[in-house]
Amino acid sequence: MKAITRRKFGTPDVLALEEIDRPPMADDEILVRVSAASVNPADWYDLTGTPRIARPAMGLFRPKNKNLGVDFAGTVEAVGKSVSQFRVGEAVFGGRTGAIAEYVCVREEKAIVLKPPAMTMEQAAAMPVAALTALQGLRDKGQLQPGQHVLINGASGGVGTYAVQIAKALGAEVTAVCSTRNVDQARALGADHVVDYTVDDFTTGDHRYDLLLDVAGSRRWSDYRKVLKEDATIVIVGAPKGSKMFGPLGHIIHVRLAAMFSSQSATFFVAKFDKADLSVLGDLVTSGKLTSVIDRRYPLKETADAFRYLGEGHAQGKIVVTI
Ligand SMILES: NC(=O)c1ccc[n+]([C@@H]2O[C@H](COP(=O)([O-])OP(=O)(O)OC[C@H]3O[C@@H](n4cnc5c(N)ncnc54)[C@H](OP(=O)(O)O)[C@@H]3O)[C@@H](O)[C@H]2O)c1
Repeated sequence: MKAITRRKFGTPDVLALEEIDRPPMADDEILVRVSAASVNPADWYDLTGTPRIARPAMGLFRPKNKNLGVDFAGTVEAVGKSVSQFRVGEAVFGGRTGAIAEYVCVREEKAIVLKPPAMTMEQAAAMPVAALTALQGLRDKGQLQPGQHVLINGASGGVGTYAVQIAKALGAEVTAVCSTRNVDQARALGADHVVDYTVDDFTTGDHRYDLLLDVAGSRRWSDYRKVLKEDATIVIVGAPKGSKMFGPLGHIIHVRLAAMFSSQSATFFVAKFDKADLSVLGDLVTSGKLTSVIDRRYPLKETADAFRYLGEGHAQGKIVVTI
């Protein structure tokens, strides 16, 4: 099969389109013919081998895994002997390392669910990492309740576009922070208020929030806390790429330590590939409360360009690779 691979860490220039063996399918696995994959900042870190402090997990000198990508949507090509929940020909989506390829193998009990008919393959491939992050950040880490006021700092990229919609679906009053060209998009996704960070400073307003979902990581704790209610929570999702050695960790540690001396709390989390939560996302799509915003599509052979665009950090929604 064709797959995007790399033999060393580096820029998108190290990516190659190779002919490799199909992954072998175990009895409890499903072989999926991939229609579309999407790229996430985590794939960028995986490509570049940064932050270097994470190299023991990624591979000290060269990548432990030559394949890239996680999010996929496609069609069941074959099922193992013990698989009972999926049949050949069904449309599915989920997450599996090495998704930027013609085929992936996924264990039945892992991150794979049926694709709702209301979504295209591209929309489904856009969803897993970014939408699971938004869902788990708001619902689980942020404990967002109907009627609460949430501020989403970084509302225009992959995580942010899903977060605005999921926060609305959870019944919150949503303030989205994004740049000028994304203001209309944030409103269209359901944000009640939009702050254009190139014009206004959201930390100087009078409004106080119950929850701040920090996707952009663009400000310091001393700024954030000015707009938080006394018992508010800040859920740190992401941060600027930072130094090669520590990456976004500097920002995350700074906010968490500073919050220890305050009545408000700060928490960081890494989203989990939860099968039940993938189904929750599918249900939200089916009920018309969630959709994927796709910024750009790249054919498989132009995956390096998809990564170059991702690396700029200003996607308007998701970046999809069509297989
Ligand atoms: N913790 C986890 O499990 C987890 C999971 C997924 C992602 N993440 C992290 O979350 C972050 C975002 O991921 P993503 O997939 O949404 O990335 P993305 O699709 O590349 O989007 C990044 C967005 O950040 C916005 N942005 C940049 N500077 C900003 C600023 N100063 N203020 C407000 N917004 C700003 C950009 O919008 P403009 O063009 O308008 O500036 C862009 O839309 C990354 O750091 C990623 O590593 C964490």
